[in-house]
Amino acid sequence: MGFYADHVFPRLMELCLGTHKFQEQREHALASVRGNVLEIGFGTGLNLLHYPKTVTCLTAVDPATLLRNTVAQRTAELSFPVELLHLSAETLPFEEGRFDSVVSTLTLCTIPDPVAALREVRRVLKPEGTFVFLEHGRSDDETIAKWQDRLNPIQRIIACGCNLNRPIGALIRQAGLRLDRLDRFQMPGIPRIAGEMYRGIAIPA
Ligand SMILES: C[S@@+](CC[C@H](N)C(=O)[O-])C[C@H]1O[C@@H](n2cnc3c(N)ncnc32)[C@H](O)[C@@H]1O
Repeated sequence: MGFYADHVFPRLMELCLGTHKFQEQREHALASVRGNVLEIGFGTGLNLLHYPKTVTCLTAVDPATLLRNTVAQRTAELSFPVELLHLSAETLPFEEGRFDSVVSTLTLCTIPDPVAALREVRRVLKPEGTFVFLEHGRSDDETIAKWQDRLNPIQRIIACGCNLNRPIGALIRQAGLRLDRLDRFQMPGIPRIAGEMYRGIAIPA
């Protein structure tokens, strides 16, 4: 980490990913989350205020510590307990079948080995549990996808490891999860290379 990753990028994340449009999407994506929940790639806690009342307990993992005071303020307002752990999603220290829901928003783009992380998601989910996601990724339009491939090296530098071109649905399936629901849409007001969205629910296959 460095000054840009620790202090500048988290504020850019707040600005770009905390807009009203993204808040609406977070609320929509998280509506079915319940019980004992794990969130991977917690970031600055932008999801916290959008969890429904059906959540009883949240464990959140992220290797980075971002905007500590903002996160503390957000967690203090919640009606359920939150445990924040600074570790990577590729190796989770939880027993099999522990969580009712696992959440990932705008994180599968950045995790260095997303399939390893998704296999861990599958392992720690209860058999009837759900993986709930809201992600951006590879376009189905070949012209846009080519631009995503071309611009990806620059994106990885300016957005601290974020990739524009990951095929999110395929990665989820590759990890042994079954897509129960997948909504594809373009995020309004965002260039298509970064705004091709994947929102949905997957279950252990
Ligand atoms: C673009 S931010 C999104 C943050 C948050 N999920 C949101 O919706 O605002 C991507 C996050 O993934 C985290 N991340 C990077 N590598 C990770 C890993 N191996 N496991 C879990 N999270 C990771 C980053 O630290 C960062 O907080």
